[in-house]
Amino acid sequence: MSATDSSSYDHIPYRSLALPQTHPDRLATIARVFRLTPPDVAACRVLELGCASGGNLVPMAFNLPGSEFVGIDTSRLQVEDARATIAALGLRNLRVEQASILDIDASWGQFDYIIAHGVFSWVDTAVQDRILAVAAANLSPSGVAYVSYNTYPGWHMREMVRHMMRFHARQFAEPQEQIDQARALLTFLASASQDSGPYGQFVAAEAERAARAPDSYVFHEHLEATNQPLYFHQFMDRAERAGLQYLSEAALTEMLTSHFPPAVATTLERISPDLLHLEQYMDFVRNRQFRQTLLCHEARQPVRSLTPEVMLGLMISSAVAIEGAPLDLSSGGGATFVKGTQRATVKKPASKAAFALLMEAWPRALDVNTLCELALERAAPFLDGAAADDVRQGMLEDLFGAMMYGLAELHTQPPPCINRVSERPRAHPIAAFQAESSSLVTDAHHQVQDLDPLSLEVVKLLDGTRTRGELREVLMQWFESGRLQLDNSTTAGQGADAVRTVLEDRLNRALENLARRALLVE
Ligand SMILES: C[S@@+](CC[C@H](N)C(=O)[O-])C[C@H]1O[C@@H](n2cnc3c(N)ncnc32)[C@H](O)[C@@H]1O
Repeated sequence: MSATDSSSYDHIPYRSLALPQTHPDRLATIARVFRLTPPDVAACRVLELGCASGGNLVPMAFNLPGSEFVGIDTSRLQVEDARATIAALGLRNLRVEQASILDIDASWGQFDYIIAHGVFSWVDTAVQDRILAVAAANLSPSGVAYVSYNTYPGWHMREMVRHMMRFHARQFAEPQEQIDQARALLTFLASASQDSGPYGQFVAAEAERAARAPDSYVFHEHLEATNQPLYFHQFMDRAERAGLQYLSEAALTEMLTSHFPPAVATTLERISPDLLHLEQYMDFVRNRQFRQTLLCHEARQPVRSLTPEVMLGLMISSAVAIEGAPLDLSSGGGATFVKGTQRATVKKPASKAAFALLMEAWPRALDVNTLCELALERAAPFLDGAAADDVRQGMLEDLFGAMMYGLAELHTQPPPCINRVSERPRAHPIAAFQAESSSLVTDAHHQVQDLDPLSLEVVKLLDGTRTRGELREVLMQWFESGRLQLDNSTTAGQGADAVRTVLEDRLNRALENLARRALLVE
């Protein structure tokens, strides 16, 4: 079989995982930010095109039992996998069909959220057009569609590498051999061209990327016959012809010109007669390779001037940590909050209090109105008589900025998790199920968490029946039977009590870590 075989996903299945950027709650909150009224996420219909083995749909369906989910994929093997998971979890609100996107017609009904992740660029033009036709004809009037695709100009450079990998791989019959050989070619080219300036640097970066990527990615991204990137404006021309309009990107922060130096941002805005031009020019500056675009019906009227008030009535969560000294509400100095590469320095006492409350609540979400009231109360002694409305407005602006820069997330539904370790801890049932076969589990924010070996074993034990003491004794039995090993330096020559103390400490740390990673439920 070769990478050009139409059933290639039966031979090298895709690693099917949760994709937080496609979650209906994310799509709904973005629609709300643009002052649309999207369908209620707790009682909606969701269609995923090319859902592989359901890694994205299964946790969504479990966490939103009042909504109905349909997935389709042409690969028999992946559909069978999805169905086995659905049966094992007893999910009644998710159905996965072996069908082609070309088969979808009006008889499938209307969906409030339509998702096509990692499909559009990897199918031929007829199927691409059908994706857009389905995203229009089968989308309910207030619905939101998500389509991701490879883009130019970034893919012009990556295509060069893909062509070379395909040229080399076609000498080999077996998919695994093709993947190994394609990687080997890149490694060779990277070392052979290391003195050739930008070309050598680019090939080295691609070789590194291919070395880190799973086999299924290398096979389907680089060795498949079809991978058709396109410019954003070409995508939007086709989407508009289908009756759809641009809503936004799935990550709002990518739409901000403020990430660029001021002179660049000013020029981008000056040369762009409208939003679509601005988005296209930003791709030129960034050499963009990939987009995750949200679309809605052309009749909708998104309000583009975003204001912090859109957050009222929504929930907010944030995984920020404070940098440096502990938070001091009384000082006029700034406090810096960080999440990944993003950071925000906040000066207003009420805003600092709001971030502190979000940190305490994480991974739970708080209602934005409630958060503002609680923060006002906490910051009250430090407000120097400022009017409550002004303070509230300033705080909302800071929270809105944090959301736009990816430091905080909005929600229409609370993520199903708790933020502490309960008396008899219980892992999220989806994570506990996934932990039986993989270290990659889905958290309550629909994100993938890669668990260390001990946390993985602990998750499997957390069915809500055992106290911490009982959990520690299970670990102790595993240690004594050799199932659980501790590094020698901590336990060598130690008696049972010392081992028990070490295990208790590790267990406590694992439990705290699972709580912080949104993996524990009531
Ligand atoms: C690159 S994978 C992406 C899988 C998944 N959406 C994800 O991002 O993890 C593309 C998927 O689309 C499916 N596919 C390709 N052509 C299709 C078609 N015409 N109709 C339905 N599914 C299709 C493939 O079988 C494969 O599972």
